[in-house]
Amino acid sequence: MSNLSEFEKTGFLVLESFVDDLACDRLRSHALELVSRFDPEGIRTIFTTNEQSRVADDYFFASSEKISFFFEENAFDKNGQLRQSKELSINKIGHALHDLDPIFNQFSRTKKIANLVLELGLTSPLPIQSMYIFKQPFIGGEVNCHQDSTFLYTEKGSVFGLWFALEDATKNNGCLWAIPGGHKLGLKSRFIRTEKNTTEFQVFDDSKYDLSSLVPLEVKKGSLIVLHGLLPHLSHANESPHSRQAYTLHLIDKSWLYPKDNWLQRPTLPLRGF
Ligand code: FE2
Repeated sequence: MSNLSEFEKTGFLVLESFVDDLACDRLRSHALELVSRFDPEGIRTIFTTNEQSRVADDYFFASSEKISFFFEENAFDKNGQLRQSKELSINKIGHALHDLDPIFNQFSRTKKIANLVLELGLTSPLPIQSMYIFKQPFIGGEVNCHQDSTFLYTEKGSVFGLWFALEDATKNNGCLWAIPGGHKLGLKSRFIRTEKNTTEFQVFDDSKYDLSSLVPLEVKKGSLIVLHGLLPHLSHANESPHSRQAYTLHLIDKSWLYPKDNWLQRPTLPLRGF
């Protein structure tokens, strides 16, 4: 691949028109259908109970093998009622869409994607996590500067993130920003699952990111952004009237060691390649 050296240098790659408009639209309408079929009543207690953190942790852990729905912060009022329609309150769906939903499976396991990740150096790629991100108009929350390897740590290689723009992503509606070359500065922390089934950060380097080095990755609908697991990146809140929907797929390699204290474990649903 001609731009492989660019990826090694910057830690990301922007591939325009990787997916056609029709495939983007099909995924968007399917995601909306999943939301319309979903009954928020069933999980309302998770976000409103007094034991919030423990119950929310359990819901989060279980989502590794499910199609689970996550709300924007403050989606519920103090009486446990949604402040606006569920379609406008959802933050994301995750984390096994690619294995459990036929339409997401089809989108995630194309020959084009398989060839790309082989060219990037994976020999036996395993999609391990998928997220459909809504980045809702006006309320789409910010995502702080982080490295994906913090959440999906592997020894040997480092997780790859594939970020598909399903709509144009601009500075206005909360596009990604990244620090070019920042993947060479090492892993700052790990997000681990403790023996008590809670989560915590293990910090190796508590220095602050140089946020002035961030560059915006504004892309057109259908573009794919490949992210190195160690690349620091963020997205600002979406205060515009336009959503910024994206689909992300994270991949590891079968030959890498995937620790048991990563939050995402798949005890009953085996990982599956292409
Ligand atoms: Fe990320």
